Amino acid sequence: MSADLVIHNGRVVTPDAVLEASIAIKDGKVLAVGASEAMPPAKETFDATGLHILPGAIDDHVHFRDPGYPHKEDWESGTAAAAFGGVTCVFDMPNTIPPTADGKILAAKHAIAASKAHVDFGLYGLLGDENLATVPELLDGGIIGFKLYMGNTFGKIASPDTGATLELFEVAAASGKRVSLHAENNDIMERRQKRLMAAGIHDQFAHLAARPPVVAIEAVSRAAILAEWTGARIHVLHISSADELRPLREAKARGVDITGETCPHYLMLSTEDYTRVPGIIAVNPPVREKRNQAPIWQALLDGSIDVIATDHAPHAPEEKTRNDIWTVDCGFPGVETQMPLMLTEVNAGRMSISDYVRMSAYNPARIWGLYPRKGALLPGSDADIAIVDLGREHTIRDADIQSRSKISPWDGRKVKGLPVHTIVRGRFVMKDRTLMDTKGWGRSVHTIQQMPAPQIRNAEHTMQAITAQRSAGRREQIA
Ligand code: DOR
Ligand code: ZN
Repeated sequence: MSADLVIHNGRVVTPDAVLEASIAIKDGKVLAVGASEAMPPAKETFDATGLHILPGAIDDHVHFRDPGYPHKEDWESGTAAAAFGGVTCVFDMPNTIPPTADGKILAAKHAIAASKAHVDFGLYGLLGDENLATVPELLDGGIIGFKLYMGNTFGKIASPDTGATLELFEVAAASGKRVSLHAENNDIMERRQKRLMAAGIHDQFAHLAARPPVVAIEAVSRAAILAEWTGARIHVLHISSADELRPLREAKARGVDITGETCPHYLMLSTEDYTRVPGIIAVNPPVREKRNQAPIWQALLDGSIDVIATDHAPHAPEEKTRNDIWTVDCGFPGVETQMPLMLTEVNAGRMSISDYVRMSAYNPARIWGLYPRKGALLPGSDADIAIVDLGREHTIRDADIQSRSKISPWDGRKVKGLPVHTIVRGRFVMKDRTLMDTKGWGRSVHTIQQMPAPQIRNAEHTMQAITAQRSAGRREQIA
């Protein structure tokens, strides 16, 4: 058998080891990994001398704004940024216009993404109070998981109250899909923001003051209790504080199916950066005091936090630089800079490159039911590959990034370690830091997702069970 492509002389990185090995690719899949002389003949060979070969990163948290906000981003620019960042699969959030809340809107987004994406993708369906009834359509239409906004953020999607959240978790538990949570308590934030605004306080530190760590502690704890009760699988997005790690770890210890994610900005930026990049650094949840960084690193390394993602949240410069912090759009691009930032930390000895592969590819693939098709370079895996030069130094420049949003707190940051080629299902989408002609190559991964069977708990107490019981009772009475 002959291969389509053999990559020779690289160092293949797994979650456990770094191997001097070649990789043969056929029909978009890994055919073999092994000694150079054991490789089959190939139509094309590629020399990766001096480079590391990583499973492409899976970024389970991006906002590509399409449909709805073409001046901020669209599927083409967002996935070009992913390709430059060594990211071969992205999961897109539902706070687009209209929100991804029913079957029709989901189908439209699938069509847009499939026509423009350079990399593979999954689409989140909204799990909101107003769209409980359309959850079956979302499941039929093909989602990677659900997103539930416990706290309000960009897009102003209403947060379900606790009663609604319980019912939504019941439905999610029955589906077996994972629910990603924006875990900030809305009541606390709204009240504090209103009070601060009424007092005429609108500097950027007021944004932080409206969202003290307790908003996350409370939301993570409450979500964990409801997940434990219903059997819903949950994923805590963008962990920003040391304090919310305790309820996360306690829930894991109790056996709740809860996973966690953090982003480079919570690991590498702090309130000390606020005056350097005022407004630009505003994000929900906020970048916090420096004391939070070491515990979040520790949690990432000990596995309490499973995933490194980006919350890629592009906005236009004029939306990021307003004087009144309450009018600034929160978030900034990140899908392209995550890998170089994290590889810089690998170079600094903060973690091993295998650790990085575990948190950027292997773990997200596992928790989202994509392993080993994604997140691994095993025979049969999709050939989704980031080829990186660990020795390459680079300065991040907002003006140079692929994202339409040319404004981020990373401008001017020096990094060491850069993805130089990116391959999605066997095809180069970025080569020598140049985008390839691969618009429309990306495919939705919901078709290959295999979540474990649902583990519903307290089934007899669900609204669905109770209403079914009542209507059965009524039917008996009538008969
Ligand atoms: O800062 C943020 N921006 N946090 C979020 O959760 C949403 C995001 C956005 O969509 O802009
Ligand atoms: Zn987000």
